[in-house]
Amino acid sequence: MRLGERWRGLAVVGFLSIGLAGGLGAACGGGKGGGDVAACDPGWHECAPDGCAPDTSPQSCGSRCTPCPAPASHGTATCLSAACGLACDAGYHLCGSACADDASAATWDADPRKVERALRVAALIADEVPDLGWRRVLEYGCGTGLLGFALRPRVGAVVLADSSPGMLAEVERKIVASGFADMTPLRLDLATDPPPAGRFDLVCSLMTLHHVKDTAGLLAALRGLLGPRGVLCLSDLDAEDGSFHGPEVDVHHGFDRERLGRLLVQAGFSEVRFRTALVIEREKAGVVRRYPVFLAVAAAGEAPGGRFT
Ligand SMILES: C[S@@+](CC[C@H](N)C(=O)[O-])C[C@H]1O[C@@H](n2cnc3c(N)ncnc32)[C@H](O)[C@@H]1O
Repeated sequence: MRLGERWRGLAVVGFLSIGLAGGLGAACGGGKGGGDVAACDPGWHECAPDGCAPDTSPQSCGSRCTPCPAPASHGTATCLSAACGLACDAGYHLCGSACADDASAATWDADPRKVERALRVAALIADEVPDLGWRRVLEYGCGTGLLGFALRPRVGAVVLADSSPGMLAEVERKIVASGFADMTPLRLDLATDPPPAGRFDLVCSLMTLHHVKDTAGLLAALRGLLGPRGVLCLSDLDAEDGSFHGPEVDVHHGFDRERLGRLLVQAGFSEVRFRTALVIEREKAGVVRRYPVFLAVAAAGEAPGGRFT
């Protein structure tokens, strides 16, 4: 098996080792290179007191030898070098810190509410950012690219970025079917990947922010993607009680606007403003719940690029 196949769907969801030896020693075996903890073979790390543990062991990940958290379903906790991650089962792809069914990509656009949501947010972005025509756009966490496709008639080129190969396969299919040569799919997880080359004039995202653990890190990375006249447009859930996804899904329960606004300023954005974009209604056990969705718009100055961890 090639490495790329083995680690398909892997993402850092836990901690990064900071190089301390010893620690919990959970499930450490002597194994290859065992015995002398100071001389582990390549691909193994010290795991006192028992010896060396493989760098891939989710039970003794990194030099702290910490067990990686087990995912809820459809995936296996993994450890690549010093970082905990998640390898999704065949037929599933990584969505934030959970594994989602690949089939959802093929049927995503069949839900008219998702299509309407993207059209509505695209219209609001056009309203908020008047000079769209020249802007190079990156949609982050694009899914099947609904927002990017909705923006395309109004903007310059569009890059559709997502961490899920399943979603990107659907994006690719749609681009080929439409013949739009100015749209490009890009596999990208800014938590682990270097930023793409070049700078964008508009970065937008719809219903993805709550799937990314490190909000501040993502905002800093998104700012790094923007040129001097760049604008960020983020649309996501307002703070909710956790019922949107349910208790089994480990995501942010929406965002408090004031707190997110402060994080945007800390990330170097200015002129931050919020408005309500739409309200998602969901019926559960005969009760209709309403989940407001905001659109945040923020201006970026020149910023250095970079990944976040
Ligand atoms: C709820 S879906 C929204 C998709 C699309 N924006 C829409 O509104 O139809 C969240 C998307 O974010 C992607 N995603 C989750 N975590 C990500 C990450 N760290 N980097 C890039 N994409 C991510 C998922 O693969 C998924 O396609």
